[in-house]
Amino acid sequence: DQARQIERTLAEFQLTKVQLLEVKKRMRTEIERGLGKETHKEATVKMLPTFVRSTPDGSENGDFLALDLGGTNFRVLLVKIRSGKRRTVEMHNKIYAIPIEVMQGTGEELFDHIVYCISDFLDYMGMKSARLPLGFTFSFPCHQTSLDAGILINWTKGFKATDCEGEDVVELLREGIKRKEEFELDVVAIVNDTVGTMMTCAYEEPTCEVGLIAGTGSNACYMEEMRNIEIVQGDQGRMCVNMEWGAFGDNGCLDDIRTQYDRAVDENSLNEGKQRYEKMCSGMYLGEIVRNILIDLTKRGFLFRGQISETLKTRGIFETKFLSQIESDRLALLQVRAILQQLGLDSTCDDSIIVKEVCGTVSRRAAQICGAGMAAVVDKIRENRGLDHLEITVGVDGTLYKLHPHFSRIFQHTVKELAPKCEVTFLLSEDGSGKGAALITAVGCRQREMDA
Ligand code: BG6
Ligand code: GLC
Repeated sequence: DQARQIERTLAEFQLTKVQLLEVKKRMRTEIERGLGKETHKEATVKMLPTFVRSTPDGSENGDFLALDLGGTNFRVLLVKIRSGKRRTVEMHNKIYAIPIEVMQGTGEELFDHIVYCISDFLDYMGMKSARLPLGFTFSFPCHQTSLDAGILINWTKGFKATDCEGEDVVELLREGIKRKEEFELDVVAIVNDTVGTMMTCAYEEPTCEVGLIAGTGSNACYMEEMRNIEIVQGDQGRMCVNMEWGAFGDNGCLDDIRTQYDRAVDENSLNEGKQRYEKMCSGMYLGEIVRNILIDLTKRGFLFRGQISETLKTRGIFETKFLSQIESDRLALLQVRAILQQLGLDSTCDDSIIVKEVCGTVSRRAAQICGAGMAAVVDKIRENRGLDHLEITVGVDGTLYKLHPHFSRIFQHTVKELAPKCEVTFLLSEDGSGKGAALITAVGCRQREMDA
C-alpha cells in the first residue's frame, strides 16, 4: 500500500504519447504567436530576432575576444580564426567565478566584475593594447534591434542584478570598460548561448540550423524564414530566432501537466510564475523538483524514517551532477546510499531505491517535454520548406545533456517519435558558445567594413 501510494505520486509525472503530442502542438501555437505582428507583444515564447542571417561559410577570419556569461561557468576567450583551404580555429580561455553576491548585487557591480575579468585575461595573454573586436555571449532573453544592441527583457536562472532589466547590456558593458580606463574594446555582437552553439556546430557541419541548450536553463534557436518573422522588415532569406522557450507555459497553457511539486519549485524561485517550462526540464530545477517530492514522501512517512533533515530542507542540494550519479546504471545501490550520505542524508536500502526512482521519473519527464518542444521546431522547419521529409542537424550543449546518463537518449527518442517525418542528427558542441560568438563577430566586422 505504501508502494502503491508512491507509485500514484510518481504517476503524475508519466506522460502519455497523446499528452506529449499535445505539448508539441501547444509549443507550435506559441511559436506562431511569438512570430506574429499582432500577437508577439503578449506572447510567452518570444521568438527573438538575432540579426544572424546565415551560418558560417568558412570565410570568417581574424582575432576576437569572446565573453560567455550565463551558464555554469563564466569564461573570457581569445579566438583566432583563419579562413582559407586549411581553416583553423585556435582558442585560449580562462574561467572566472561569479560570486552569488555579484549575480544578485547591482548591475554596476556585475559589469565591473566582468570588466575586471577581461582585464585579468588580457594581462594573462599579454594583449592589453590590442583593441580587439568582442562577441558577448549573454544567455538571457534580449530584445535585439541589431547585432550589437540587446535590451535585457528579464533575468532568468540565478541572476538578479539590479538596474539591468530594460537596459542595453552592450552599453552596460561599454560603460564598464570606460569606467575602468585600462583598455579599449569594440563590442560587435551580443549572442545568446543557443545561437553561439548553433554557429559553433555549423562551422563543422553546414546542415546544423538549430541550437539547443539543456543545461542550467533550457532554450533553443533555429533559422526561420524572414517572411515568417513579421516584426523584422524584409522577406528574403532567413534569420536565426532565439525562441526563449523556457517561458513556454507562463500563460498557464501547461498547467494541466504541472504537479504540486512544480508549483512548489516555482513559488520558491527568484522569478515566480516565469520560465515554467524551463523549471520542468532544466538542470537548475530538476533537483529541486526531486527534493520537493522527497520532502512530501518523508512527511507521509515513506522515506528517511519520516524525519525531514536540515539537509533535505536546503535549496539546491541536488545539483545536476548528483542526479546524474544517482541515476547511473553502473552504480550499485550501496553507492547511491554513499552519495546520499555525502549530501547528509541517512538512507536505508529501501530509501535509496525510492530516491533513484524519483530521480528517474523527474528526469524522464524533463527529457520528454524537451523532446516535444524540439519536435515542434523541426516540424515547423520542415513545413517552412514544403518538405515531406527533412534532414537536419541540431547543435547541442549543456551540462544536463552532457552529464546525465539518460536525458539525451530519452530526448532523442521522443523527437523521433513525435516528429517522424524529420531525420534529426544531434551534434554535441565541444567548444562551447564562445567560438560561435567569435564567428558571428567576424561576420559583423566584415559587414561594418562594407557599410563604411
Ligand atoms: C556552454 C556555453 O558550452 O553551454 C554556455 O558556452 C552555455 O554559454 C552552456 O550557457 C550551457 O550549459 P550549462 O549547463 O553550463 O548551463
Ligand atoms: C535561460 C535563458 C536563455 C538561455 C537558456 C540556456 O532560459 O533565458 O536565454 O538560452 O537559459 O542557457
